[in-house]
Amino acid sequence: MLLKNKNILIGITGSIAAYKGCELVRLLQKKGATVRVCMTPSAKEFVGELTFRALTGEEVLSDWKDGKTGLEHIFWARWADAFVVAPATATTLGKISSGIADNFLNSVALAYDRSIIFAPAMNTKMYTNPATQENIKKLSGWGHIFVEPDSGELACGEEGEGKLADIEHIYEAVLYTVLPKFLKGKKVLVTAGATREHFDPIRYITNASSGQMGYQLAKIAYAAGGDVVLISAPTCLKKPYGVKAVDVVSAQEMFSAVMEYLDWADVVIMNSAVADFRPASYSSQKLKKDKEQPIIELKPNPDILEEIGRRKKKNQTVIGFAAESENIIENALKKLKKKNLDFIVANPLDVFSKKSHKGVIISADGNRIEIPDMDKESSALFILEKIFKR
Ligand code: CTP
Repeated sequence: MLLKNKNILIGITGSIAAYKGCELVRLLQKKGATVRVCMTPSAKEFVGELTFRALTGEEVLSDWKDGKTGLEHIFWARWADAFVVAPATATTLGKISSGIADNFLNSVALAYDRSIIFAPAMNTKMYTNPATQENIKKLSGWGHIFVEPDSGELACGEEGEGKLADIEHIYEAVLYTVLPKFLKGKKVLVTAGATREHFDPIRYITNASSGQMGYQLAKIAYAAGGDVVLISAPTCLKKPYGVKAVDVVSAQEMFSAVMEYLDWADVVIMNSAVADFRPASYSSQKLKKDKEQPIIELKPNPDILEEIGRRKKKNQTVIGFAAESENIIENALKKLKKKNLDFIVANPLDVFSKKSHKGVIISADGNRIEIPDMDKESSALFILEKIFKR
């Protein structure tokens, strides 16, 4: 519930993607926010106002004169902790960038004195048109935030940029605007996912880590103001908004990628479940079952975190993770010392399969903080706040 006690205003404009506003309302409500919706008159041609009234339990305003007093565009601008225009059409971007206030939505925009989040959605040619791009540049220059559209098949039948961004990414941009910036100015390197150690082109040794915790940590670190690089082994997860992603497969590839970014980083969060061993040999052809039964010999992989600990500079904070099946604290403490860490987050082994997370943060000076059982997103925020809000 990262948006608990937050007021979010969603502005819907006249795009075929207007119906996705319903999904956005539900997601923000699920995260604890109180949501209100305003619509441009043309948005109502795509989705009925009643839909949003029913979803939010609030009135939905369209004309700048709408509402009890006629001043609601000012009051709603004051009320909102975040204002998201999704989908944002070329016309609305053009009007807002020109300071035009001829409907409720763009009147709120003019009265809103913080960063607005825009998620454009339109035909590719309309999106790439210099008029639209100039308006986007102008709005970005004033500090407004753009969640860039995805590429793909558009409603008009054309292929290209212009599809409304993923709803999750729009939510992440909202998080970015409301979370306290306790990692502002910090360069944060996060690793995630289970490495794959191939012994033929399609077969490999790996482990059960889903990568979820690492992705949540990267997402929250960005939302808390960090400049984030996420080095990820293969996962089924979408890359978080705003994060620079580097994809790797094996432990050796992860080692090289981490070493490349190590000097850059102020904070290293090593959450990846790195395979300790890899097959000693690799067959470029698929191993056939009618041949002799293969014996897969293993050899050790580098311990990436141990090497980070060895190279650690004074101003760097290094955080490791330990998933243990027994003697959790004792084993985690051993890793903390051996790998020269500032913090280790110890958790039971079932963290891999569960959606929630609980554990304990142990610092190099012996402090322990229990992490209560909660979803991984909340847990990521809890961990980073405990470590960096001190
Ligand atoms: N780690 C790493 N490189 C490895 C193995 C682990 O960087 N080759 C990191 C993990 O990302 C984690 C920490 O070291 O942050 C502890 O990993 P874990 O698998 O719990 O422990 P190991 O050191 O591998 O020891 P063991 O498997 O014996 O528990």
